[in-house]
Amino acid sequence: MPLKNTCIVSGAQTKFGKLDGVTLREMFTEAVDKATVGAGIDKKDIQAAFIGTFIPEMLIHQGHTAPLLLDYAGLKGLPATRHEAACASGATALRAAIMAIESGFYDTVLVAGAEKMTSVSTNRVTEALAAAADDEFESSLGLTFPGVFAIAAVAHMEKYGTTEEDMARVAVKAHDNASTNPLAQFQKPVSLEKAMTPRYVAWPLKLFDCSPISDGAAAMVLTSTEKAKEYTDLPIKVVGTGQASASMNLSDRGELTSFEATVSAGRRAYDMAGLGPKDMDFAVVHDCFTIAEIIASEDLGFFEPGQGAAAVKDGITARDGDKPINPMGGLKAVGHPVGATGVKQAVVVYKELMGDAGPNQVDKNETGIVHNFGGTGATCVVNIMRRADA
Ligand SMILES: CC(C)(COP(=O)(O)OP(=O)(O)OC[C@H]1O[C@@H](n2cnc3c(N)ncnc32)[C@H](O)[C@@H]1OP(=O)(O)O)[C@@H](O)C(=O)NCCC(=O)NCCS
Repeated sequence: MPLKNTCIVSGAQTKFGKLDGVTLREMFTEAVDKATVGAGIDKKDIQAAFIGTFIPEMLIHQGHTAPLLLDYAGLKGLPATRHEAACASGATALRAAIMAIESGFYDTVLVAGAEKMTSVSTNRVTEALAAAADDEFESSLGLTFPGVFAIAAVAHMEKYGTTEEDMARVAVKAHDNASTNPLAQFQKPVSLEKAMTPRYVAWPLKLFDCSPISDGAAAMVLTSTEKAKEYTDLPIKVVGTGQASASMNLSDRGELTSFEATVSAGRRAYDMAGLGPKDMDFAVVHDCFTIAEIIASEDLGFFEPGQGAAAVKDGITARDGDKPINPMGGLKAVGHPVGATGVKQAVVVYKELMGDAGPNQVDKNETGIVHNFGGTGATCVVNIMRRADA
């Protein structure tokens, strides 16, 4: 049965990128202010907060972020809970909020995510991110996230003939879309030739196959269908939500060319919404590396296994294609402040559904799907959203 009670009435993000001199709490506050007072929502209406942050302990020596950030954002005293699921921290916070509204426990809640990553070296960030892999079998042996996704890329190349050029095309599309997104970390298109520059991070993945290291925050307000009328004539409904997990350790997976938690979470969200892949007008997927977008497009059922790369080449996933994917630029070019990403992705779907995406607006915008995963897909959350008038 589709969810009936959960609506999104605002969504906003800060600029993503290397935000020198801007602290975690300042970014968080900016996003929250934009999503509340900036959207005509009184902060007094918020009853609870669900917050995603991933590795502040390791990057800025700050734990217990939920009460700290909420206090700074002028919401002291509310129930505030931090959600940590690696790069899916934001989406697990969102899903908890969806369940709280759907059950009737709260009327109006805040969902927000934030991460400050650029104040330490790339080596330090790489080591911290590796905490999202299995320490006993992977990270302690030197396997990092570019390395993990390189393994998936090699498997996809071996099984389906996917090429480095195929992956580079995902980067070209991402940078193209981000070039008109003023909140993106990278706002310049890149040529295929540039994306193919052989600066290998972990073969076959090159610089342009990787999402960058970023600072940023995002926030949104969820409310009940009844209450939503007070804020907007056009609430966006959450109609399906799915979450799944898989083994952390890649060597325990039967298949490296597909992420089973994406398949399961997607199926659960589709079943709940009573919709299927063909009903999705556009998608926002977790493209932490270019191969991840290709695999997600297959795992979510848009294309047959092994056909994701061809869909990019044929322009099907372009903003003006039949199945636009990451129309505002994705993690790859907008940036990936890990705890903020899952919330920011949902904000993108919200804006596209509202017809509020400016030059990044997709043509068909009744129904959108958002996919966020953590680690090598050991946690995955998929949500389906629709315009209330669809
Ligand atoms: C790819 C990566 C290693 C590059 O880091 P780096 O070598 O320290 O790069 P620098 O920050 O020194 O930047 C060098 C240049 O490359 C650019 N750059 C950095 N990362 C980039 C990226 N991902 N894509 C495109 N350009 C990038 C910078 O803007 C800079 O350009 P400039 O010289 O024109 O100013 C780093 O971004 C990374 O580790 N990404 C993956 C993050 C990750 O694993 N996230 C979790 C996913 S699960």
